[in-house]
Amino acid sequence: MIKKKVLVTGGAGFIGGNFVQYMVGKYPNYDIYNLDLLTYAGDLTKHKEIEQKENYHFLKMDIADREAIFTLFEKGKFDYVIHFAAESHVDRSITNPGVFVKTNVLGTQVLLEAAKQFEISKFVHVSTDEVYGELEFDPTTFFTEETPLQPNSPYSASKASSDLLVRAYYETFGLPINITRCSNNYGPFHFPEKLIPLTISRVLNEQKIPVYGDGKNIRDWLHVMDHCTAIDLVLHEGLVGEVYNVGGHNERTNLEVVKTIINTLGKSEELIEFVTDRLGHDKRYAIDPTKLENLGWKPTYTFETGIAQTIQWYLNNKEWWAQIISGEYQNYFQKQYSL
Ligand code: NAD
Ligand code: DAU
Repeated sequence: MIKKKVLVTGGAGFIGGNFVQYMVGKYPNYDIYNLDLLTYAGDLTKHKEIEQKENYHFLKMDIADREAIFTLFEKGKFDYVIHFAAESHVDRSITNPGVFVKTNVLGTQVLLEAAKQFEISKFVHVSTDEVYGELEFDPTTFFTEETPLQPNSPYSASKASSDLLVRAYYETFGLPINITRCSNNYGPFHFPEKLIPLTISRVLNEQKIPVYGDGKNIRDWLHVMDHCTAIDLVLHEGLVGEVYNVGGHNERTNLEVVKTIINTLGKSEELIEFVTDRLGHDKRYAIDPTKLENLGWKPTYTFETGIAQTIQWYLNNKEWWAQIISGEYQNYFQKQYSL
């Protein structure tokens, strides 16, 4: 079996965390290095089951710390870098955009420079469909890899900037890269500031659910494990220099999502509270995943099976999300919402 050294940035967060667990289990011959700054969004308690495994390692580090990153790459001799680390919440980018530029733009450039200097064999940049901007409410239109980048929030602008840097390192220096652009994820260990885990945790506590505007904005939901298998495939089979969209055709309005959760948990729809809309709120996202499907990817969850599994996970793992919403999160929630 071929041994590989794999650096995963942001592996204490939601998607990176699920990806680290997936890789540690699937590839015992790969050494998985989880590099994470442990911001408010990162936590290591999710890795209790793998932290003793021989092929799992943790490094607390800032991707924007050039000196530390270069020292690490010099010693580490990594084969692959899978880059998840980012500030990821649109609402926070509206109140505090600066850190999004530092981590998402500058941090990505530091990693690219180190990957170039120490000649890694594949750099997968985990990006987002939000870089394409928004679609109208026309069910026949989709984001393809050729859709122009038109980001609307400071978050998506910072991700689009990082995508362009990744592209430039391929075009200018021949760095072997791929970029993935996935739609909205949901599933285990999703931080409860995002719509689905926020709704589940608040419904379970019989608290009001803040729905922005009229609730008719549309997102295209993908279970996080389907995102993990997509990244695994792109890492191993993706054509160097290519962008791959990731999505499973699961478009729902926000109101449909919230009502599904409330009804599954047998609670009242009176918990819904329409609140002031998000500034610059993108209307609709919808992915055309044909290019990735042609590479051999197929999602395993529908929205119905995925949301049922996720709700059950939150019911079984109250300890995990209860410790998050009892801390600093309370201050965030008070400032963000007046509920
Ligand atoms: P998350 O906020 O849950 O996790 C981000 C992780 O990055 C955290 O563990 C945090 O501690 C770490 N981090 C932040 N700044 C860092 C720094 N300077 N140095 C090192 N680590 C740092 O995010 P997520 O939802 O898991 O998203 C992961 C990636 O996937 C992001 O790049 C995001 O843009 C992208 N993405 C997310 C979604 C989604 O629906 N959540 C969809 C498509 C793409
Ligand atoms: O599309 C991929 C993106 O999905 C990722 O790049 C981002 O990192 C991720 O956070 C997510 O962005 P969204 O802004 O779409 O996700 P969020 O869960 O914040 O919001 C989903 C929808 O729900 C959006 O239309 C806003 C709405 N919403 C959100 C919150 C937090 C509400 O109506 N009420 C809320 O309280």
